[in-house]
Order: sequence, then C-alpha cells, then structure tokens
Amino acid sequence: MRKFGLIGYPLSHSLSKKYFTNKFEKEGIKDAEYELYPLESIKDLPNLIASNPDLVGLNVTIPYKEQVISLLDALDPKAKVIGAVNTIKIEEGKLTGYNTDYYGFKDSLVKFIGAKPMPKNALILGTGGASKAVKAVLEDLAIEYRFVSRKPNKGQLSYEEVNSSPNYLSTTSLIINTTPLGMSPNEDSLAELPYDQLTKDHFLYDLVYKPRKTAFMQKGIAAKCWIKNGLEMLHGQAEAAWEIWDK
Ligand SMILES: NC(=O)c1ccc[n+]([C@@H]2O[C@H](COP(=O)([O-])OP(=O)(O)OC[C@H]3O[C@@H](n4cnc5c(N)ncnc54)[C@H](OP(=O)(O)O)[C@@H]3O)[C@@H](O)[C@H]2O)c1
Repeated sequence: MRKFGLIGYPLSHSLSKKYFTNKFEKEGIKDAEYELYPLESIKDLPNLIASNPDLVGLNVTIPYKEQVISLLDALDPKAKVIGAVNTIKIEEGKLTGYNTDYYGFKDSLVKFIGAKPMPKNALILGTGGASKAVKAVLEDLAIEYRFVSRKPNKGQLSYEEVNSSPNYLSTTSLIINTTPLGMSPNEDSLAELPYDQLTKDHFLYDLVYKPRKTAFMQKGIAAKCWIKNGLEMLHGQAEAAWEIWDK
C-alpha cells in the first residue's frame, strides 16, 4: 500500500482526504490511501516519516508551507523561487519539495481569461503563503502586480491607499483575493475596497472555494465582472501533486 497524506495544524477543514479518497475509488487506484496527519510542531515530521515507512507523498498546509523547507533534502526550482512548499515526494527516505499551488493557479487563471486579452496588471490582496505562488504566476505571465496588505511593506499598498484613490481599483483589471476573508463560516467578510469602481472589464479571482460565490465575488457579480472561485485551483494543485507522486 502506498501512503499519502496531509500535514498541517489544525486540519479539521481540509478537503484533501476526501478529494484523494474519491479519486482513488473513481480511478480504481487500489494500492493507495490518503490520511490526515495533524502535527503540533513541524519538528514532528521526521518521526512521522520514520514511523510510516510506506509514506511516499505528503501535502503541506498552514502553518508549515515555509517552515518545512529546512527539513527537506531537495527543492524543485519553482518551489525555491516561491519560497513555499505544499507537496513533498519521499523516495528512499529522501524528501523533495514542490509547489503545486503554482500550477493549480496558473492553469486556472489562464482558463479563466480564456480568449480575452491577458490583463496587464493586478492587485494581490494578502501577503501570506498562497500569495507567493500567485506572485510567481503573475511574473511568469508578465502581469504587473501590487500587493495590498493590512501592514504594507515597502512597495506594497495599504487598503486605506486603495480606498482613498479614485484609480487603483479602476485601472487594475485583475483583483486576486489570497486572504481567508469570506471563507466559510465567515461568509460575510470581504476585503475593504472601493467596489463601486468595478466595471464589466474587471476579473475577480478568489482563492477561497467555500462558499462557491464568496462575498467578494458577489461584488463582482453586481458590477458584471468576470468572476472565479478557488475550486479549480484546489483540484489543479491536487492533480499536479498526484502527477509528481505517481511518476
Ligand atoms: N484554492 C486553492 O487551491 C487554495 C490554495 C491555497 C490557499 N487557498 C486559500 O487562500 C487563503 C489564504 O491562504 P494562505 O495559505 O495564504 O493563508 P495565510 O498564509 O494565513 O495568509 C493569508 C494572508 O491574508 C491576509 N489576511 C489574513 N487575515 C486577514 C483579515 N482578517 N483581513 C484582511 N487580510 C487578512 C494576511 O496578509 P496581510 O497581513 O498582508 O494583510 C495574510 O498573510 C485561505 O482561505 C486558503 O484556504 C486556496
């Protein structure tokens, strides 16, 4: 039996086990199982691996996507640029880290834009782990971007700046929410932005996938924008992880 699983803490809201268990069943993959491994500290990872010799693949989620890097033997070049790992392949005790959020987001964003002209610029809301994969995708697609943060570092925008300007939102065609705002059960929360500046030419991408239409996306619907939630990205990053593990 090949064992796969997810590390993070806490893990009660994770959809990964359901996704992979369904996939294994649907595709007749009989030699694989997927478990949740909540770790109170990332220092418990070597123990987990030592006591589960059949473990061949792990996903990594909050709060360990960055902390796990120091425990790996090798890092995929894309994960190195991003500075975060969400997938580990274990071969003969050797751990290699990858970032499949990058591939999940890139494929989904490209599909979302479709045949329409690629947006020239973007605002990334939030500066956490997922925003780093988003940033790398925008760089690779030559889309200019600014981060919006509650505590902006140099070069980043504050929500106050965006709100007090008549043009940050109106002149930026792609707005990407990488904050947990709007995620169930806090479905009413959303970033504070001058949503009245939205037009039908704006693209709103929300990494949140539950609910399917977040409060942020509802603002886009009201202004007739193009909207997208994070479900396709979630499936895309899981499939990209499977391709790495099953090679
Ligand atoms: N669809 C997918 O496949 C996928 C993949 C990864 C993540 N996600 C989702 O993306 C979201 C973020 O994940 P993450 O791993 O990046 O989390 P994270 O590391 O905790 O970062 C989230 C960032 O959002 C901002 N933020 C947090 N709370 C906020 C609040 N109350 N108001 C405004 N901003 C707030 C913070 O940036 P500042 O401090 O700079 O404001 C924070 O760094 C989660 O909901 C996660 O489920 C989805």
